[in-house]
Amino acid sequence: MNIAVFCSGNGSNFQAIINAARSGLFNARITLMVCDNPDAYALSRAKKEGVKALLIDIKNFPSQETFEARIMDELIKEDIGLICLAGYMRLLLSGFINKYREKIINIHPALLPSFKGTRAIRDAFDYGAKTTGVTAHFVNEDMDAGPIILQETIKIEENDTKEMLEEKIHKLEHRLYPEAIKLFIEGRLKVIGRRVNIS
Ligand code: GAR
Repeated sequence: MNIAVFCSGNGSNFQAIINAARSGLFNARITLMVCDNPDAYALSRAKKEGVKALLIDIKNFPSQETFEARIMDELIKEDIGLICLAGYMRLLLSGFINKYREKIINIHPALLPSFKGTRAIRDAFDYGAKTTGVTAHFVNEDMDAGPIILQETIKIEENDTKEMLEEKIHKLEHRLYPEAIKLFIEGRLKVIGRRVNIS
């Protein structure tokens, strides 16, 4: 199966997915990285790793529909069977999601449904939560709201700084996301309503 990873920034999860594929954790190729930010470090990673990158700026399109149609053309061309959002900071339109229903996964740096959005680590820390975590989930039309594949907790200790928590979260993401991808690739995920059964 061919995988496309969507990024807007650093791309450390993209790197973790590449490393996992290389180590043989799952049998799939990372054939495309889609990036909506010309300053994203993920672009350098793609270059270094020899992964084709589609840098696409929404400002060059008359609408989000045409922007996503262009991305879709590329996904079809590359015969993509799984899309992994990895710090892609843009909501996908329902037309796009419908075409790839239950074939889009996201990683979120909190225990959903708590702390949705783009500042989840900071929000959990500032809220004074004692426990947070990481969620891998299917993507549906609502933000950070699709059926949950895997979830793991992390304790926020009294002496933790925001930076320390960030480090712990990223470390967990880099293990949990490849595990979720492996389950998908092996056909072991079954979505029943809001539940994802793992066989
Ligand atoms: C990750 O922590 C990911 O969970 C988060 O963005 C970061 C991207 O880091 N995503 C979200 O907050 C989505 N709501 P990376 O670019 O180094 O993979």
